[in-house]
Amino acid sequence: MTFAPSTIDNDGVALLWLLALLPFLAIIFLRPRGVAPGDGPLAHVPPYTSITYPLIGSLQYFSGHWDFLRAAAQKGSVSFHLANHKCIALGLDSRQAFFGEPNVCSALGYAIMLAGTPNLSKDFMKTAGIDVTLGGRSYKFLTALIRKDRVINNMPTLYSYAYDRMGHLAATTINPFETFPEIIFRLTVTITTSLDIAANPAACNALLKVFHGLDMAATPVTVLFPWFLGPDRIRRFSLMKQFYNTIRETIDERKAQGRNDDDPMQFLLDEGLSPIEITQFAIAVLFTGNANTAVIVPAFVCDLATHPTYLSLVREEIETFIARFSPDTSLPLKTRIQSIAYDDWIRPGALPILERCLKETIRLRVATPLHRLNDTGADIQMGGALVRQGTIVSFHTSFVHHDENIFTAPLVWDPERFTEERAEDKKTPLAFVGWGAGRHPCIGQKFATFETFLLTSLMVILYDIEVVDQYGQPLGDMPPVDLNNAVVSPPITPVHLRLSSRR
Ligand code: HEM
Repeated sequence: MTFAPSTIDNDGVALLWLLALLPFLAIIFLRPRGVAPGDGPLAHVPPYTSITYPLIGSLQYFSGHWDFLRAAAQKGSVSFHLANHKCIALGLDSRQAFFGEPNVCSALGYAIMLAGTPNLSKDFMKTAGIDVTLGGRSYKFLTALIRKDRVINNMPTLYSYAYDRMGHLAATTINPFETFPEIIFRLTVTITTSLDIAANPAACNALLKVFHGLDMAATPVTVLFPWFLGPDRIRRFSLMKQFYNTIRETIDERKAQGRNDDDPMQFLLDEGLSPIEITQFAIAVLFTGNANTAVIVPAFVCDLATHPTYLSLVREEIETFIARFSPDTSLPLKTRIQSIAYDDWIRPGALPILERCLKETIRLRVATPLHRLNDTGADIQMGGALVRQGTIVSFHTSFVHHDENIFTAPLVWDPERFTEERAEDKKTPLAFVGWGAGRHPCIGQKFATFETFLLTSLMVILYDIEVVDQYGQPLGDMPPVDLNNAVVSPPITPVHLRLSSRR
């Protein structure tokens, strides 16, 4: 979903930076045009929020994304600003317009609101320094790369990376929010970036570290002042340079060896992308492909482990599923699981209990603002709101996912809400938006479902699992979901899995 990293840490350092910058800002900034109250021709722009500070805007957004958006937009859409960014928060009633509008750009919306990936070559004052869309071509390339036939070609590699990691977990207690992201990152690199890099776990882990670094350097200051070359922005440039070096070396080595492999990097080279463009594409896509999956998969395994009845049901369902394709239980699991085709994993209804449980984990845990940028060059209408060119429009998934008028006891993990009898998601339009909706559905849904089912299957077949805290004490429940994150995030309190081999 996201095209940029961000655990926005709203710590004292960020605040100090802001305080230091205020006099400077007072001189150079005016409240952005287009959202000020009382500007005659802007009558249809949603009313300006009262939750704001002079000049700098709604800093409250950073300390609690849901608290701010819910309070600001509970009576309908409102305008706000964040330094020079013009923003509109849409409320529950405007979600049809939010998901249905084809002309706005989600990638640039995220890039700005999550501190983005500064463009290495273009005028970054224009788009906060980002061209993650590669002039609108990014999605076209990603769609081609995760096409079924390309994934199918890579199935043996994907299976072997997944099994080799999950089948040989050295520790008996793991932090799933560290172990799973490593393997998910490697699988995503295999499909979207380069087989050479994917084949080298050390290179993959080094790139993953770069991503964590970018994440840490995404602060309110980098969002508010993308042009400001402060320590975080400089750090982000240096990390992106590291990423670029890895891509450049991989390309150079391939060219020196005269190789023309059938892999994503070759595809991108053949499309005429330069090493810088491939770097931008890879950073954007790896964030998009990894950010949600790297949290959803471990959270899903934890949700199952804290619900032993479902864990047993799911284990039984998966064992039956594997036996359909490879009945001989004396064969190694790796061999048996490899006989399952990509299509069989993702066919709707193939694993109904697993599907229902995953949907519930996604409903519960995709609790973030979604963003669009009006970069159409003109003012547009979204629902009742007039959206000026250059405005960011945000909608929070908790308006639907955690609305008790739509989902009974919305903060409780309860897969039965999706059964035909209850069908809570079917009674209200756009109630479940955990894979996106309308004109912006998740491009990676099938691949993400495959990854999640494969990794979860390996976990529950190979291990008995128990959720424990950092001291090894069993946890009956997962910590409550924090609705105030900028992106889908691991629980604040550390959660571990204690494993014992079942074979
Ligand atoms: C469990 C894993 C995942 C979840 C829960 C998820 C969820 C979502 C959601 C909610 C959106 C809509 C965002 C919005 O409306 O602003 C979205 C969009 C998107 N997702 Fe995913 N996603 C996952 C995995 C992936 C993967 C693996 C890829 C690619 C490899 C991917 C690529 C994309 C892209 C490119 C979009 C943007 C579509 C657009 O704006 O038109 N996602 N995803």
